[in-house]
Amino acid sequence: MVCRILAILIASSAFALPFNDDLVGTQPKTGQIMRSEPKDSIPIGGNDRYVVPAEEVLSLTNPNKKPTEVQLQRGKRLYKANCTQCHGIFQDGNYHPGAVQPWIMGLDLSTPDMASKPDGHFFGSIHYGFPAVGDVKVMVPYGYKFSIDEHWDIVSFIRSMQSERRK
Ligand code: HEC
Repeated sequence: MVCRILAILIASSAFALPFNDDLVGTQPKTGQIMRSEPKDSIPIGGNDRYVVPAEEVLSLTNPNKKPTEVQLQRGKRLYKANCTQCHGIFQDGNYHPGAVQPWIMGLDLSTPDMASKPDGHFFGSIHYGFPAVGDVKVMVPYGYKFSIDEHWDIVSFIRSMQSERRK
């Protein structure tokens, strides 16, 4: 009986704590929830997870020149779940600030200034955090959460907000 109660206690606390202290410290620094891959290695499963180093990320361009409605909707869903709380969202002809930290400048990603930045800036900020290069991050990296395709769907959605605003 005592054993059983103990087992339930241990099992339930394991479920209650998906992260340990080590991961909380590591994740914002590396953007990964597991030990980082050795330098220059390519994960089993192919090249589809490979992203160029942060120093080269600005030169990436969105492979979806004309994103489909499905890709845009997926980008919007991911953006709303992961970015709106800080960056706000441009919809129905207006910019709606995020609930968190609305006083920080530079969070509105739909402005003409943001529209003039290259695709790689958005990809890089998502994948490596902002700024993409360097150890000190104003925004933590979210790359570990998304597949490469999902990164680009979010970028496509940000572009669609920017052109919506220009209208
Ligand atoms: C916890 C709050 C938070 C979340 C969530 C967040 N960001 Fe950020 N992000 C920031 C802050 C703070 C900055 C720095 C703003 C600045 O100083 O320009 C930033 C910067 C950026 C920049 C660079 C802006 C520039 O000035 O050039 C981009 C692009 C960006 N974030 C995209 C995203 C995307 C896409 C998501 C969702 C996957 C996201 N962020 C989620 C807080 C957040």
